[in-house]
Amino acid sequence: MHESHHSGQLAGDTTYLVAWRDDEPLGSGVVQWGGCIGPSAREAFPRAVEINHLQVRDEYRSQGVGTALIAAAEQLIGRKGMPQAAVGVAHDNPHAERLYLGLGYRRTGITDVSEYSWVSDDGTVQQANERDQVLVKDLLQGPDRHCE
Ligand SMILES: CC(C)(COP(=O)(O)OP(=O)(O)OC[C@H]1O[C@@H](n2cnc3c(N)ncnc32)[C@H](O)[C@@H]1OP(=O)(O)O)[C@@H](O)C(=O)NCCC(=O)NCCS
Repeated sequence: MHESHHSGQLAGDTTYLVAWRDDEPLGSGVVQWGGCIGPSAREAFPRAVEINHLQVRDEYRSQGVGTALIAAAEQLIGRKGMPQAAVGVAHDNPHAERLYLGLGYRRTGITDVSEYSWVSDDGTVQQANERDQVLVKDLLQGPDRHCE
């Protein structure tokens, strides 16, 4: 998975964010510059940049790492002058949904099915489908917002 995120960044399609404490990686997330992956979200929010693959290692959860990763992603998106961030949250993930809602994301009523692949521990590529509700957040609140 990390190799795939890294190669996405090398190709210029994504920015792969990793949160560190000293030399220990705590969690990661991906900024998907091509926009929303799901077709319905893409149509409804054509200028939104998707943040996905947010994951914090079990032992470091509820310490603000996820919040810091989302804030870093939003800062990058705002600096590029893009107006919205979007996230897809599985219907059976109320914890992540609460976190996003608390950070200013709003429900859109859109559900997309996203297909993704990952490499399991035995080295084989696995495919999965996930039904995600789409949440968005408006990032640009004024003309100076991204002029840093
Ligand atoms: C969802 C996930 C990324 C959140 O990461 P996290 O590092 O635990 O997130 P945070 O610590 O920033 O916030 C989690 C909670 O801890 C609270 N918190 C943050 N800093 C805190 C601190 N210093 N002390 C106590 N609580 C704190 C937050 O308010 C939040 O509370 P809430 O759940 O009631 O909203 C993590 O649980 C995870 O990896 N889950 C599995 C993968 C996943 O579901 N990814 C999301 C896909 S959409």
